[in-house]
Amino acid sequence: MAGDVIGVGMIGLGTVGSGVAELLRDQGDLYAQRTGKRIELRRVLVRDVEKAKASGLVDPAIVTDDQEQIISAKDIDVVIEVAGGVEPIDSLMQFALEHGKHVVTANKSLLAAKGPELFAVARDHGVSIAFEASCGGGIPCVTAMTTGLMANRIDALFGILNGTCNYILTEMTGSGKTYAQALAEAQEAGFAEADPALDVSGQDAAQKLAILASLAFGVRITGDDVHAIGVDGLDLEDITLGDEMGYDIKLLAIAERWPGSKWVNIGVQPCFIKKDELLAQVAGPYNALSVHGHAAGHTLYYGQGAGQLPTASAVVSDLLGIVSGSASAAFSNMRLTPDLTQPAHILDRRDTESAYYLRMQTLDVPGVMAEVTSILGDKGISLSQVLQHESKAGEVVSLVVTTHLTRLGDVEDAAEEIAGLEPIQGEPVIIRVIEMPA
Ligand code: HSE
Repeated sequence: MAGDVIGVGMIGLGTVGSGVAELLRDQGDLYAQRTGKRIELRRVLVRDVEKAKASGLVDPAIVTDDQEQIISAKDIDVVIEVAGGVEPIDSLMQFALEHGKHVVTANKSLLAAKGPELFAVARDHGVSIAFEASCGGGIPCVTAMTTGLMANRIDALFGILNGTCNYILTEMTGSGKTYAQALAEAQEAGFAEADPALDVSGQDAAQKLAILASLAFGVRITGDDVHAIGVDGLDLEDITLGDEMGYDIKLLAIAERWPGSKWVNIGVQPCFIKKDELLAQVAGPYNALSVHGHAAGHTLYYGQGAGQLPTASAVVSDLLGIVSGSASAAFSNMRLTPDLTQPAHILDRRDTESAYYLRMQTLDVPGVMAEVTSILGDKGISLSQVLQHESKAGEVVSLVVTTHLTRLGDVEDAAEEIAGLEPIQGEPVIIRVIEMPA
């Protein structure tokens, strides 16, 4: 990047934007020493100018509500986008790229929805888009995937990619809090999305997984390709029963290259994992990503996936990568972004295989266990554990089985048949049980 002083314009001055402003204000000497250039925050675009000026977060003279002062201004070299949302940010980003500005964004919804188009515009105009902050906050997982593990064929990703959900599950498991209490606390602490439905429905993790899996497997995967089940439908009883069987529950974002084929299995769902697994130790709002490379084996990245300074750390690291030229070179020379890759072959989820946990609510009457096991046996489903607490005859009781490796479609079909049995109340609950690769 030409010149000794780099002009930066930022769109948004919320939680992450304030963190970026703080880092640029306080760490200018460190960044100059690392890149050989001074970085100047020259403009901040906000909706409410008076509020931003009064906030004391940035010099009031650089606050504006005129987008042209950022996206087409001659003295702006890099645009940082920390406003979020898809509309109207996508057209602002497009204009900025067309005017030769590099873009740093934390916006996973934008990339999941418009990534291929925006990457292509950047390439046409000789500039780059950096997006480390879009996945996993302060954890440099995009960099790990694109450069650190470049020598590997990546076979699987297992991620805890939503801090709000991990916080909720940790609190429900450990402190016996209700779902509503734990969600309210996550919102208060500031790591939930403006619309927390995105977090608890699994959509936020699905968007992050789409970005990471695209990079890992070198294929194009959109947020819509990722089947997502959130934590909003979880029943505390399953968490308690799973605990008794030696499992912790985690909302896992999983992408697996199907062995020996070009197919990818990808999805987000609450899963049981053995309590001694590393991912089971990830508590509270923290995020973690397990990456399985054919040469490196299992590597694990852990840290704060949300919050002001962790996310600002990723944004500013991207900015420094652009200023020093490393991020721009990676963007233009590596064939990783979805404008250059082909759509993934996504495996039908019913054809994927895993172990499963099934909980049925049943009247405790003679013969029900035999009927349930006969349905499972007819579908070729082999059981590994059975759990039923002592009850009085005729009461409604939870009957839990876990299976060996089996096809999801068969488990779903068996569950539907079981739901039709006379003593069974409601639909069986199905939760995936993860056997982590070695
Ligand atoms: N709402 C997200 C989470 C943080 O709870 O992890 C930003 O991606």
